[in-house]
Amino acid sequence: MQYTYCGRSGIQLPRLSLGLWHNFGSVDDFGVATQMLLRAFDAGICHFDLANNYGPEPGTAEENFGRIVRENLKGHRDEMFVASKAGHDMWPGVYGTGSSRKNIIASCDQSLRRTGLDYFDVFYSHRYDGVTPVEETMEALVQLVRQGKALYVGISKYPPEQQALAYKILQDAHVPCLLSQYRCSLFDRKAQRQNFQQAYEAGSGIICFSPLAQGLLTGKYNNGIPEGSRAARQSGFLQTSQVTPERIAAARKLQVIAEERGQSLAQMALAWVLSDPRVTSVIIGTSSVAQLDNNLQTLDRLGFSDDERRRIYQIVADPALSF
Ligand SMILES: NC(=O)c1ccc[n+]([C@@H]2O[C@H](COP(=O)([O-])OP(=O)(O)OC[C@H]3O[C@@H](n4cnc5c(N)ncnc54)[C@H](OP(=O)(O)O)[C@@H]3O)[C@@H](O)[C@H]2O)c1
Repeated sequence: MQYTYCGRSGIQLPRLSLGLWHNFGSVDDFGVATQMLLRAFDAGICHFDLANNYGPEPGTAEENFGRIVRENLKGHRDEMFVASKAGHDMWPGVYGTGSSRKNIIASCDQSLRRTGLDYFDVFYSHRYDGVTPVEETMEALVQLVRQGKALYVGISKYPPEQQALAYKILQDAHVPCLLSQYRCSLFDRKAQRQNFQQAYEAGSGIICFSPLAQGLLTGKYNNGIPEGSRAARQSGFLQTSQVTPERIAAARKLQVIAEERGQSLAQMALAWVLSDPRVTSVIIGTSSVAQLDNNLQTLDRLGFSDDERRRIYQIVADPALSF
């Protein structure tokens, strides 16, 4: 594994991190989830990305993570960097969602109970909810650090204006924002344009989610929607309507370049996100150990020639590819 420093901090993170949004919930195979997590840890992926609502059922990814760690990785807590978040819908009801102080503080306590951990390495505001003042949310994050429930804090998907305010409030409180989490892939470069430079200049690490556009950038949908894939599963977030002819055509063309590079399309798509020098790590999601092993090989070839970049940008220039 390769590691790099996270923004202006003393923390190093693996270039590939593992996310538990899908495939670790109560609807999933616990044996496969265990194998993936252990394989990741053995390969040096020591950063695990959770959130209160990951499952389904919401909360069960944290419960399963805690169980896997208790049953297999006891004594290794200090070798792990574990993230959780609050802000998206957890349960129906006014206190089950949003970025209020009440939800952030209570949710962190609930996540600690579910995982069985004493603290999170980083705790995020999962989203700017459009209503809660950024001051209220950031002060709640700072409070978690003061209470020892989180070592660092992060923000996820904050629009540029609220992102700037969050950095300022956190900086003033001497709890700088360790990580800024944004969606970024060859099919979605909006955050790269709107948010990365600001994060970089503020000294925040940048960590990217859905780098494979939930599987569209693996080539797996090039000949229809395979059984068991995220788009085919009821619990999957990828909708069949998002598997469009334009995206499939682009994935086919990108696959040609990946093959020339001696990589799978997934590896090339991950390498592309990591090739932005401002990016600390990408969070991968996998549904099998084979996928994880395939993605780990990304690190064998990260660089791109000017010609490869030019051809890739020509393919992904079509606005119809964006989410
Ligand atoms: N902050 C936020 O709001 C936010 C939002 C979303 C995600 N995240 C984080 O980011 C993580 C990653 O997001 P993501 O799961 O959407 O990432 P992704 O890498 O775009 O998609 C992962 C999916 O792609 C398929 N896949 C992965 N590697 C493959 C390979 N080598 N060959 C074929 N198929 C492959 C699998 O789907 P199949 O099931 O079809 O096999 C896998 O579940 C999440 O777990 C979560 O921790 C954060």
